[in-house]
Amino acid sequence: MTDAMPASTPVAPETTLELAPDTAAEDLDEDEGDVGSAFGTVPAEEEEEPTVTLRVWRGDATGGDLVDYTLPANEGEVVLDVVHRIQATLAPDLACRWNCKAGKCGSCSSEINGKPRLMCMTRVDELPEGPITVTPMRTFPIMRDLVTDVAFNYEVAKRVPAFAPAPPGPEGYRMQQIDVERGQEFRKCIECFLCQNVCHVIRDHEDNKEHYAGPRFFIRFAELEMHPLDTNDRRELLRQRMGLGLCNITKCCTEVCPEHIKITDNAIIPLKERVVDSSYDPVAWIGRKILRRRKRSADEAAATVAEEISDAAPQEAVDAVEP
Ligand code: SF4
Ligand code: SF4
Ligand code: FES
Repeated sequence: MTDAMPASTPVAPETTLELAPDTAAEDLDEDEGDVGSAFGTVPAEEEEEPTVTLRVWRGDATGGDLVDYTLPANEGEVVLDVVHRIQATLAPDLACRWNCKAGKCGSCSSEINGKPRLMCMTRVDELPEGPITVTPMRTFPIMRDLVTDVAFNYEVAKRVPAFAPAPPGPEGYRMQQIDVERGQEFRKCIECFLCQNVCHVIRDHEDNKEHYAGPRFFIRFAELEMHPLDTNDRRELLRQRMGLGLCNITKCCTEVCPEHIKITDNAIIPLKERVVDSSYDPVAWIGRKILRRRKRSADEAAATVAEEISDAAPQEAVDAVEP
């Protein structure tokens, strides 16, 4: 070696491979496979956002039609949540009745995929895939969209003779626990009127409404008739004016009750038995003749309602005797 080597060999500066941002991932993908998705930075393909479609009946008493509303799906929603989002984003004039959103006020009754249900207690993810049909209750007149006029039920309620206890004994009022518990089941009713809506006696026969109380009020009658302190006899009224005989115990009302009240087994059938006992049992008939006891007629039972309304007692007195 004649020429001395330079004391230091110049070293090429460190080079970095710079790729244009747009091409970097593509080039790497070709060589290395799906690098972007492996590092979670560039999705391989856009995932479609899940959506929910509500097919809502829109209209009024003169007519209407089903309208589709599609929104992004949110986890854990009930049908009422989606209706509220439709009102907030797509159709602010959509009418629906609701109050508690907890299955307790009985306001949000409707027909979901053709079945009477509470909108606030029906989870979207429990319904079959595809559009969810939401229509108003069919048995009652339409006011607007999902809101119906349920005044029929309040008119029937006025015709139920109220609780009428005998004067208290020296120890006040006393009842067996079993009698207390029997009435409790009926008092769970939230007056959603889904049972009234599904009952075919009035659902398909508007003219029956005039003389038919319906399952919600049969449980009210049962609660009063089974009360050991009550003195009113409503059996003739049930038979002649409230249409108990029209019920053919199909149990449709029991199936839709959100409070799981056994309407048919625990109220309607026992009422029918009591009516039959009072009207057709020959032994009971002879007993009444011998003891000179007479049932209260339907007119007399109905008259007590008119008396009660006209002699409207002060609230304290009503509170004192309400079962
Ligand atoms: S059981 Fe009677 S009250 Fe209930 S839905 Fe059937 S017919 Fe109506
Ligand atoms: S009985 Fe059941 S379905 Fe009928 S009004 Fe009451 S809570 Fe609703
Ligand atoms: S909003 Fe009250 S029961 Fe549905």
